[in-house]
Amino acid sequence: VQGPVTVTVTGAAGQIGYALLFRIASGHLLGADVPVKLRLLEITPALKAAEGTAMELADGAFPLLQSVDISDDPRVAFDGANVALLVGARPRTKGMERGDLLEANGGIFKPQGAAINEVAADDIKVLVVGNPANTNALIAQAHAPDVPAERFTAMTRLDHNRAISQLAAKLDVPVTAIKKLTIWGNHSATQYPDLFHAEVNGKVAAEQVDEAWLRDTFIPTVAKRGAAIIEARGASSAASAASAAIDHVFTWVNGTAEGDWTSAAIPSDGSYGVPEGLISSFPVTAKDGKFSIVPGLEIDAFSRERIDASVAELGEERDAVRGLGLI
Ligand code: NAI
Repeated sequence: VQGPVTVTVTGAAGQIGYALLFRIASGHLLGADVPVKLRLLEITPALKAAEGTAMELADGAFPLLQSVDISDDPRVAFDGANVALLVGARPRTKGMERGDLLEANGGIFKPQGAAINEVAADDIKVLVVGNPANTNALIAQAHAPDVPAERFTAMTRLDHNRAISQLAAKLDVPVTAIKKLTIWGNHSATQYPDLFHAEVNGKVAAEQVDEAWLRDTFIPTVAKRGAAIIEARGASSAASAASAAIDHVFTWVNGTAEGDWTSAAIPSDGSYGVPEGLISSFPVTAKDGKFSIVPGLEIDAFSRERIDASVAELGEERDAVRGLGLI
């Protein structure tokens, strides 16, 4: 048994936080034998709600949960953190321009990046869930110059899981039959779920579905699933987002299975024509606590066009936050 591991969750009183914290407390984030100390970061008006959640965590009597601390100060909440889940973000409200959205999120992710730089543990791993996740991760990273850049990641695992589930339903196979699925690019409607490298029972997935379904049903269904959930539930994805955050960190810490990979938005090393430094989703393996981009995949024209479009959007977001002086 190792640990305890200190895990900081921002936006802890929100809907994803509510689904996430109980799974962390029951050992799903790191492993069933790793004790956890939880730190909840919230804005001042939500501290009371966070306290309510902490009371419920206490009521769970979780054997692995050693402590729960709540703060509205990033310097307190990230102190000694080994894992940071940045969930709290400013949502886009009616009439808000993209520049306003990026600026509001800069006001959150800049100080959080700076606090992580100053007070987090040396082995800190950061997952940004709060949208626009890739660019928020870029902002936080820019303000943490002493932390290796690769420790800042953004979540596309929910998109990855959605794509696996859609494909499994289409082919009437269990989700475990599907390997090597990839989400490329931005966690936005431009994301590209790739079936040309994915395998179903060892055979190329794209060859088992017709092209029209892949192009006109599968890709838009995965990309627009978030909106479909809002339409059905009257609230955005929460438990599935929390579950994907658990999957992302568990894989990062414990590794990918032999012969498989997953999707995560990590800083580009220039692979696959993605400009170096952009935090873009790639096919990745994880080993010894490090993600690596799967090398050497052949990208055909169909995929190239879609990857390029999503990466171009990431470049525009980066230029916009640069223009606002946020990075
Ligand atoms: P929510 O609105 O229920 O909760 C957000 C919480 O963050 C609130 O309690 C708020 O007080 C808190 N918060 C705001 N600013 C903060 C700050 N500076 N420090 C600490 N806490 C702060 O939202 P929900 O549903 O939990 O979603 C959170 C984020 O996750 C949203 O940005 C959403 O778009 C994003 N999301 C991302 C997904 C992905 O796949 N990457 C999937 C689903 C949601």
